[in-house]
Amino acid sequence: MEKDVKDILISEQELKQICKQLGEQITRDYQGKKLLVVSVLKGAVVFMADLLREIKCECIIDFIAVSSYSGTKTTGVVKFKKDLDIDPDGMDILIVEDILDSGVTLSYLSSVLMGRNANSIKICTLLDKPANRRADIKADYVGKTIPDEFVIGYGLDYNEKYRNLPYVGILSPSVYEK
Ligand code: IMP
Ligand code: MG
Repeated sequence: MEKDVKDILISEQELKQICKQLGEQITRDYQGKKLLVVSVLKGAVVFMADLLREIKCECIIDFIAVSSYSGTKTTGVVKFKKDLDIDPDGMDILIVEDILDSGVTLSYLSSVLMGRNANSIKICTLLDKPANRRADIKADYVGKTIPDEFVIGYGLDYNEKYRNLPYVGILSPSVYEK
């Protein structure tokens, strides 16, 4: 598995620091609000688990699942695979994503959730890859802005593999070029 990693982009230590910093910011911003943290399956689960423990204000959590990827290319068509269990009416939604790439997934998700009478909707993404942006969307909280490389680990996959790597690494092109 490790031989398919070209470089480590974000170390375990840096990831910990990023979660701590974002958690502090979110804790400050959501004091006294009705925070509903919504994680996007499956890529965001590892980040969600770490970030959640750095959020010190009251909140509830839920999960949604969408998919738009096949290999290293987005198909441009977002599929809803699992909806919220909790009714977000009157809640302050914070969407937690692994990576904001073309933006197609998050703009689709925000527009769907917008119709559910939430009090507010904000986005927290671990990684921002602005080079490929196609949709007009910006995250409110960004862990780290990264160059245009296909990354894996810490929840992020290539064809469902590598999610269990404890760091964010750049996938060796030899893996998808063969
Ligand atoms: P977007 O709709 O193009 O913004 O893509 C968002 C989704 O694509 C993310 O939630 C990831 O699951 C996936 N994705 C985008 N870039 C990468 C990458 O570099 N590695 C792994 N998954 C990625
Ligand atoms: Mg994803």
